[in-house]
Amino acid sequence: MKALVLTGGRGTRLRPLTHTSAKQLVPVANRPVLFYGLEAIRDAGITEVGIVTGDTGAEVRAAVGDGSRFGFHATYIPQEAPLGLAHCVLIARDFLGDEDFVLYLGDNLLIGGIKDLLTGFQDSGHAARLLLSKVAEPQFYGVAELDRDGAIASLQEKPQVPRSDLAIVGVYAFSPVVHEAVRAIRPSARGELEITDAIQWLIDRGHRVDPHIVSGYWKDTGRLQDILECNRILLEEIETDVRGVVAGYSEIGGRVVVHPDAVIEDSVLRGPVIIGAGTKIVRSYVGPFTSVAESCVIEDAEIEYSIVLGGSTIEGVPRIEYSLIGRDVEVTRAVHLPNAHRLMVGDHSKVQLRI
Ligand code: TTP
Repeated sequence: MKALVLTGGRGTRLRPLTHTSAKQLVPVANRPVLFYGLEAIRDAGITEVGIVTGDTGAEVRAAVGDGSRFGFHATYIPQEAPLGLAHCVLIARDFLGDEDFVLYLGDNLLIGGIKDLLTGFQDSGHAARLLLSKVAEPQFYGVAELDRDGAIASLQEKPQVPRSDLAIVGVYAFSPVVHEAVRAIRPSARGELEITDAIQWLIDRGHRVDPHIVSGYWKDTGRLQDILECNRILLEEIETDVRGVVAGYSEIGGRVVVHPDAVIEDSVLRGPVIIGAGTKIVRSYVGPFTSVAESCVIEDAEIEYSIVLGGSTIEGVPRIEYSLIGRDVEVTRAVHLPNAHRLMVGDHSKVQLRI
């Protein structure tokens, strides 16, 4: 069995971060979201992993390398444009050969791994097995309807009137018959080769597609609120490990991880919190569910329920919450009059000022 991991796409919902970086590499609990998926694939015993890349291919290659640090062999498959999930399968034909494979969307976080999904799939002789999750608002997802035998009868893409509350999670197991399907379908109204169309094609031709209801936590991290929630869920699991320098009148409570090269001075850290290598927290408060990556400075500031990426500075700002701060960003206090905000904000940024 092989794996095909998708790291291309437009990432429009996470602009401006995705103007410069891969959304699959946004860190949650200070590790790229993609790494959790790659580890789940490795833990399922898969040793050959194809990685479909888009504009951010160089960054993904630099992060994952030849795969040896995860324990598998990585093959990169550049996609010329985000032409759809089924297009990714189409261009990976040579890599996938005639083996069964798991298709994994690189920005999906699945706690609990993929072993359960794959158990028995190869012996089943079925065309595909889809991971499904019960959701509160199925109209925002691809939705699967089951027949009386428990097989998938039909799929609907973001339906106005959903026929079930079972959303398609971004992890699928396929047998090689899917290659016929991705060759046969035509682009959808949005110009993409849709994997749901390929699966529907299989069902319509009498192939059996099984559901597998997800048992653990699952989230597609395509939007800010989802990334922050994933960060919260992963930080809930950390074990206290404070190794850096903790100096002055500092107070550390709850589950907190401080990297050996980090410095905490006259600050309050109220976990769960993780602080990365070379980061300095000075006269500041870092509140629950915050991940601060490497080489940041937080000084005379307060922050909680947020993610701060590497190299950023937050200085003299009373309280930041529910925020995702990119790389090498400066958020500082204006010391001179007029009493006004000064912004240099990238395209498609979102700034909320509490005045
Ligand atoms: P999506 O999140 O559905 O698509 P997107 O990245 O274009 O996002 P947005 O809606 O915010 O613009 O894609 C799911 C995953 O598959 C994601 O990790 C990106 C990847 N992908 C590809 O690699 N190639 C593609 O052609 C598409 C559509 C997605």
